[in-house]
Amino acid sequence: MKNKLIIAIDGPVGSGKSTVARRVADLLGYTHLDSGAMYRAIGWKALCEKISLDSPDELAAMASRARIDLLPGDGRQRVILDGEDITGWIRTTEVSHAASVVAAIPGVRHPLVAEQRRAGERGGVVMEGRDIGSVVFPHADLKIYLDASPEVRAGRRWQELREKGEAADPLIVLAGVHERDRRDRERKMSPLVRAADAVVVDNSAMDAEETARVIVMMAEERAKGKSVTSGS
Ligand code: DC
Repeated sequence: MKNKLIIAIDGPVGSGKSTVARRVADLLGYTHLDSGAMYRAIGWKALCEKISLDSPDELAAMASRARIDLLPGDGRQRVILDGEDITGWIRTTEVSHAASVVAAIPGVRHPLVAEQRRAGERGGVVMEGRDIGSVVFPHADLKIYLDASPEVRAGRRWQELREKGEAADPLIVLAGVHERDRRDRERKMSPLVRAADAVVVDNSAMDAEETARVIVMMAEERAKGKSVTSGS
């Protein structure tokens, strides 16, 4: 495809963003960027450095010192924090919690959003997160709001934990999903919202492959429209 788009995929926990965004990027030959991994890296660093999650100023200062690189990897992107590969450490329940706390702090979001813009501005990118279509790239060529029912999303999260050998009570996982939804949607800065011009894709009854193919079809349409308007 000649005209490389910026594709924003936002949605709540368990909506399948990562698998879908990665597959869309594969099918289009684009770069996949998981912005949530950056908030996870900051949450991880806070836990390692024993910075209190109740100290927004200290957390913001730490975030502006941190160097996060997202590198394409085999399957999942690799997350490098201050030169160290932390990909395998940032998907635990403890880091998920820390990430959602630090993500509510404006001084943490500013440097990360600036980095996300730098990484995606040339196009040919599928960036996933919570505020990509609303804040990071309000002029993205295609905005998708991916959603599924809380029960379906909790079921996926439970399965993910099980595959990692973390035994979990399904009701506790569902309560965790509600809790993270609440924090992501109610925070003052860049809450999870559906951008007015985002296309809602509810994939409660679709698998990741079907979902990705639907999005690729939309992307191909947008790219045609872009080549007509840009005259290329
Ligand atoms: O997508 P995820 O679960 O890996 O994201 C981790 C946390 O970071 C989650 O609490 C939401 C937050 N986040 C955010 O606030 N903005 C983004 N663009 C991406 C993630």
